[in-house]
Amino acid sequence: MKDRPSLTAWRVALSRAAHQIFDRPPVLEDPVALAIVGERAVAQIRAAALRYSLRPARYLRAFLVARSRIAEEALAEAVRRGVRQYVVLGAGLDTFAYRNRYSASQLRVFEVDHPATQAWKRRQLAAAALAPPESLTFVSVNFESETLPERLASAGFRGGEAAFFSWLGVTMYLTRSAVLGTLGYVAGLPAGSGIVFDYAVPPATLGLARRAAMRTVMRRVAAAGEPWKTFFAPRELALELQARGFRQLEDLGPEELNARFFSDRTDGLRVGGLGRVMSARS
Ligand SMILES: C[S@@+](CC[C@H](N)C(=O)[O-])C[C@H]1O[C@@H](n2cnc3c(N)ncnc32)[C@H](O)[C@@H]1O
Repeated sequence: MKDRPSLTAWRVALSRAAHQIFDRPPVLEDPVALAIVGERAVAQIRAAALRYSLRPARYLRAFLVARSRIAEEALAEAVRRGVRQYVVLGAGLDTFAYRNRYSASQLRVFEVDHPATQAWKRRQLAAAALAPPESLTFVSVNFESETLPERLASAGFRGGEAAFFSWLGVTMYLTRSAVLGTLGYVAGLPAGSGIVFDYAVPPATLGLARRAAMRTVMRRVAAAGEPWKTFFAPRELALELQARGFRQLEDLGPEELNARFFSDRTDGLRVGGLGRVMSARS
């Protein structure tokens, strides 16, 4: 990623805002998703209702809200087990920290992102009069060239205590070694630590229709200057995670996501055939 705010982070945030506007009931209840993109963007989303009703747009936002929901449910479970640190890796315009119901003593939140994206987010927050809560610490990191553990430690993260991480919509934009390096770091944290992240499967492993859909997505993100670089086959990823010390894995593909979050809806909202969400615990 170059030294400018992530355009894909903006698009994801628009989709989450569109979910609040168009989809009932919401899979992810997130009123801050509207505030953080701002009134002008909300008006533009409303004006583009037709585009947001098209199948590819609905597939995409179903996936985006499902992955956030999985991360937040896994976080709640981690907090029940006593985890007191939450690290949002590649946070973009993620809004959890601004609707977080836990007190600062129950949960410290660290938002980690590329410096350019983080600075832009802070401007968006200020424009929306969303004050960062006391429980939140911003940590700017370039995953490709800086060391996450050191940056986190200097921000007050306690490496000797368990932590929960989310890493949504990021792994495919990084090199394989950067992805595996971060996963290895999380796996090495005290027992009870965990991570939820999504990943892209190699296009060649997909059927024709899904492969074509994926190529379209890949062309769009590459045109935004953020090409996908890393893909994992599910079995291969499981082996990589186990080799690094993760013990419990849950890998959700399109069928599982639809069964879990979209089966009883009357509006037909559901995920398409792309994207998988992995939940791993040490
Ligand atoms: C598609 S956005 C997802 C944002 C957010 N997780 C969400 O779901 O809304 C990708 C995010 O990855 C971050 N990112 C990409 N490459 C990065 C790098 N080398 N170092 C740090 N962050 C990076 C971007 O800044 C951006 O926030």
